[in-house]
Amino acid sequence: CGIIGILGKHEVAPQLVEALKRLEYRGYDSAGVATIDASGQLDRRRAVGKLVNLSDRLVHEPLSGHSGIGHTRWATHGAPTEVNAHPHRHGPVAVVHNGIIENFRDLRQELIAAGLTPESDTDTETVALLTAHHMAQGMAPIEAARATLARLHGAFALAFLFDGEDDLMIAARKGSPLAIGHGDDEMFVGSDAVALSPFTDRITYLEEGDHAVLTREGAKIFDAQGQQTNRDITRIDVGATAIDKGGYRHFMAKEIAEQPSVLGDVLNHYIKDGRIVLPDGLDFAGVDRLTLAACGTAYLAGYVAKYWFERLAGLPCDLDVASEFRYREPPLSGKSWGIFISQSGETADTLAALHYAQDRVAKTIGVVNVGTSAIARDTDIALPTMAGIEVCVASSKAFTCQLAVLAVLAIKAAQDRGRLTDEEAARHIDDLRSIPALLNQALTVSDECRALADWLAEAQDVLYLGRGALYPVALEGALKLKELSYIHAEGYASGELKHGPIALIDRNVPVVVVAPRDALFEKTVSNMQEVMARHGQVLLVSDAQGIAEAGDGIRAGLTMPTGGGLFQPILYAVPMQYLAYHTAVAKGTDVDQPRNLAKSVTVE
Ligand code: G6P
Repeated sequence: CGIIGILGKHEVAPQLVEALKRLEYRGYDSAGVATIDASGQLDRRRAVGKLVNLSDRLVHEPLSGHSGIGHTRWATHGAPTEVNAHPHRHGPVAVVHNGIIENFRDLRQELIAAGLTPESDTDTETVALLTAHHMAQGMAPIEAARATLARLHGAFALAFLFDGEDDLMIAARKGSPLAIGHGDDEMFVGSDAVALSPFTDRITYLEEGDHAVLTREGAKIFDAQGQQTNRDITRIDVGATAIDKGGYRHFMAKEIAEQPSVLGDVLNHYIKDGRIVLPDGLDFAGVDRLTLAACGTAYLAGYVAKYWFERLAGLPCDLDVASEFRYREPPLSGKSWGIFISQSGETADTLAALHYAQDRVAKTIGVVNVGTSAIARDTDIALPTMAGIEVCVASSKAFTCQLAVLAVLAIKAAQDRGRLTDEEAARHIDDLRSIPALLNQALTVSDECRALADWLAEAQDVLYLGRGALYPVALEGALKLKELSYIHAEGYASGELKHGPIALIDRNVPVVVVAPRDALFEKTVSNMQEVMARHGQVLLVSDAQGIAEAGDGIRAGLTMPTGGGLFQPILYAVPMQYLAYHTAVAKGTDVDQPRNLAKSVTVE
């Protein structure tokens, strides 16, 4: 969920909506704003669905005032209805919240016993109820909010607004990031710096357990012990933030097509004159193990990288989905490094995994697209993936840019560990450098993928098979199809098919086989034959030679350019993206904002 708060000089409702647009990546189930008007009166508007529904409502039922809070929601407790949408209000208190109040059931019972009546199913409303209850007992707003904060368990970021208090806002952070923006006689609160970028570039990040009392004059910050404290103001540069579709029908199509150019940028950044250039402190010589943790597509980038690090650098890698990592309580070596991969840098599970690893490994590295994000700030070394803003919820260019950075790291690790001669290193660097041009050719599969979309759109289930470093690409193909088209899809290691999933095969199940003509090709072709022997309909994604050699009996083939060496997984991501994209368009789903998803999930 995304939070914004403004104590401003202008009509605040449109500003809140503008900021919420930048936070929509955190959820788009429902949205709402609350303001305090010139007479000090607190009022709110909420709407289910996309942000546009809220802005429509504000046209017909405007809210005036210069102070306000806003929220965009990804539902946790309670369905995405208007009653469950934020801001939650009880009496004089309105609250917006990101995170989960873990003890809300106990608090709720206590409040009901005290005679209060909740109207929603949410954990957040409890915060408003409890604070209002404290005020009814005679506490002033700041005192009441503090008394509430002291009772809350879980991970959260909160902003409070009070009826009759046009120049007061309280913000609190525990577990979920929260930033304060400093203006001229204006103050702001936001889930991230990007949301605040239209208003100010002067940001203070609250630390764990902090709360802040804001007035237009400034912010007083208090630490977890309640002592007033100073936190630095940093100047942020969020760069050009223009967001448009550039003539494409969807952001996804634009972002897929941008890959040759952004991959070129990121490789130019990390490879200069044929040499890898990384920040100081990245010598892999004494490292005994890598631990990688990430979520969703970023996790699959880590999965590909595991093959590279182990093969090229002989460096053992443990890989986890971030949500499993810390509760597994993995023993970590003090000579190991942790790598945390995230487009947004705000994913709660990945951030928690990083915090778990922080004191247990020798170094933490972030592979992050948003440079001002929590993961970029909290890792020892943050390596930008430089994909530019990615708007579509399903990741495309951010994935391939993550792969590019991880490929650079793997070559560097191999060099540092004496695993490559200079010529071998030069060859891998050349292979990697060839990727942007090859990606350009790979984009031409779009038309062929469109031609296959009607077939895939009719399927109930689709299987994706791959081997070696192409296995995670098969997983990514399946994930993309699920996310975008809502068709059930599974990725399998080609060799694993015969151990179970082959039972699913019949003539109605399309099987996408991802198999460049490499050393593992023959093996994968055998697995493909096993599918065809059971009337499975194969779509073979390979290079011209692969299709020529193995194409008999397949339903269709997608021809990929040859080249790229070990880094072919970057190229093969493209047909995975286009198959999902065109199938989604054929089905008429919401390509850029699929149902139930958020671009970055900021609750655990
Ligand atoms: C969400 C998105 C995925 C994304 C994942 C990780 O679940 O729907 O597409 O891969 O979060 O996001 P991150 O910002 O950490 O890369």
